[in-house]
Amino acid sequence: MKPQVYGVCTLLLLCILPNWNLLTEAKNNYDLLTENFTCSTQDVDSQIIKDLNCGLNKNAKRRTWHLEFTLKKHVKEHDFLMRIVLPRQRPLTDFVLIDLTTDGCQLLANRNQVPLMRLGRNIMDRFSNFPKQCPFRANYSYYIRGFRMDLNLLPAVDMETAVNVEFSYQSKQQGIKWITGYMGARVQRIPEKKSKG
Ligand SMILES: *[C@@H]1O[C@H](CO)[C@@H](O)[C@H](O)[C@H]1NC(C)=O
Ligand SMILES: *[C@@H]1O[C@H](CO)[C@@H](O)[C@H](O)[C@H]1NC(C)=O
Repeated sequence: MKPQVYGVCTLLLLCILPNWNLLTEAKNNYDLLTENFTCSTQDVDSQIIKDLNCGLNKNAKRRTWHLEFTLKKHVKEHDFLMRIVLPRQRPLTDFVLIDLTTDGCQLLANRNQVPLMRLGRNIMDRFSNFPKQCPFRANYSYYIRGFRMDLNLLPAVDMETAVNVEFSYQSKQQGIKWITGYMGARVQRIPEKKSKG
């Protein structure tokens, strides 16, 4: 019954990586606020995707996002793409933190070689019902819900920044991105009051 996961959060972990301050206390003074979350598909003929929807839960005190989909057919081999960008003021160019393509089945099975990808996937366990291995089944409603990144799980983060994340599931054969998710988020300082203690 234990659900399984993915590397969406990985991006969040990875994007914060360069700013980790490994020498300080684990308690974090920063928070990750999701500002928007949208998704789309290139599968316009609905060969793979049957239903797809996503969005933000704005009524929650802390915004969370969700992504739900149902597939028309079993999806075995696929790629998972992730791109994390820290937008910067001109004349600086945006900083591309991560831009990777990895085997989706390996990621599901947690056999990815990158430790942060594995950590990210483990965190996703709490928020999704993704399978522990390929395939994604047809006619089954998969979800990621209520996703919140708790920065306390990470070593201290020490800067405020906007973070744009894009991730896709792509078929190996046709190259179609059957799901792409876009997230705009912000790492921000928690007001002093709350961060003490
Ligand atoms: C999924 O459900 C549809 C409609 O119920 C059915 O026609 C189709 O064969 C199912 N696909 C699989 C792979 O089970
Ligand atoms: C989503 O948020 C990002 C980061 O805050 C922002 O750059 C982008 O314009 C927003 N997109 C939409 C559609 O609001």
